[in-house]
Amino acid sequence: MSAQAHDTQARIAPFDPERIRADFPILATRVNKHPLIYLDSAATTQKPRAVIDSLERYYTENNANVHRGVHTLSQRATQAFEDAREKVRAFINAGSAAEIIFTRGTTDAINLVAQSYARTMLKAGDEILIGEAEHHANIVPWQMLCQHIGCVLKVVPINDAGELELEAVTRAWTPRIKLCAFGHISNALGSINPVREITALAHQAGAKIVIDGAQAVAHGSVNVAALDCDFYAFSGHKLFGPTGIGVLYGKRALLEAMPPYQGGGDMIKVVTFAATEYADLPYKFEAGTPHIAGGIGLGAALDYLDSIDFAGAVAHEHRLLDYATAQAQAVPGLRIIGTARAKAAVLSFTIDGIHPQDLGVILDGHGVAIRTGHHCAMPVMQRFGLAGTARASFAFYNTFDEIDCFFAALAKARRMLA
Ligand code: ALA
Repeated sequence: MSAQAHDTQARIAPFDPERIRADFPILATRVNKHPLIYLDSAATTQKPRAVIDSLERYYTENNANVHRGVHTLSQRATQAFEDAREKVRAFINAGSAAEIIFTRGTTDAINLVAQSYARTMLKAGDEILIGEAEHHANIVPWQMLCQHIGCVLKVVPINDAGELELEAVTRAWTPRIKLCAFGHISNALGSINPVREITALAHQAGAKIVIDGAQAVAHGSVNVAALDCDFYAFSGHKLFGPTGIGVLYGKRALLEAMPPYQGGGDMIKVVTFAATEYADLPYKFEAGTPHIAGGIGLGAALDYLDSIDFAGAVAHEHRLLDYATAQAQAVPGLRIIGTARAKAAVLSFTIDGIHPQDLGVILDGHGVAIRTGHHCAMPVMQRFGLAGTARASFAFYNTFDEIDCFFAALAKARRMLA
């Protein structure tokens, strides 16, 4: 680390959730006459003022299309968009900005790998391995691919705690597996998966790995070089940035060898009716006008994370989860779904005799926002014999007081519904 970086680090104040909350305007809002208690950050995170301002500044001062214009606004927009790509590169420690593809989100990024890499590199009879707790975004694209090219989807079971054990992955491995795809953190259970070890296993077997990082990026630093993963996908909106923007990281050699996912403007060098020569990375995978404001807003979110004590924020989140888990264990009839030893920011649960949706509606009446249902992960709900759960998910802007209010509202709901 340079001396200047050391100085910057030293100037960052120790993590203080009350000070952080002031950066997120929506947290001061009232819902149903109560202060908002936002416990749905796994669905989408709230945005700091710096991100909101960056969107306004882009549209009021710099709005123009990128990579196309000689005029000043286009050059400013291009510079800001490409600066954001470089910020993403640094955030996940990728080797080159050419390895950072802007997408619409995690789902779009995984579909890109399925329809470009896997569609051309896999053949009938090859196998793809995923986990039992995957989000639909890391199931359905592979099923669709299997239907198209005749490869086979295999699933590694999780244990009763909701853990994906390395031994289970090893047991499920076959020589026909050419690709595996695992969530870094389960959105429905919060389990942190051993993705670094699975990556090593896949590589030893000559296979590639895709990591769905949608839930992981906001809860700790991600280092794709250290993970050595082939692809890593995530969304801006789960990282305090705008919706509609996401990222696919891919190793350069793989991206170079892959055909474009979609055709159109900006992904070409030369077009004739006879043939098209494609643009270099990363533009080969970015057909059409991208979500320019989204990319810039994501860059602002990363600047924001750089400006706070992120390690302190992650430690605070862990304390919140421990605090909430201890309170949950004392609630009669409450069953926590997902009790992995390595867990992040998610408390998924059921309460005997109460439908999760009814609980969600009553809590909303008290200003408490949680998610209820299958969390876009129906197979893991089936694994636990459930139609759905209630899920409180935390971010670093949550407080212990909010968790107390959540459990007070839960007690009222139990009295009304049980
Ligand atoms: N994947 C998001 C969630 O877990 C929408 O709620």
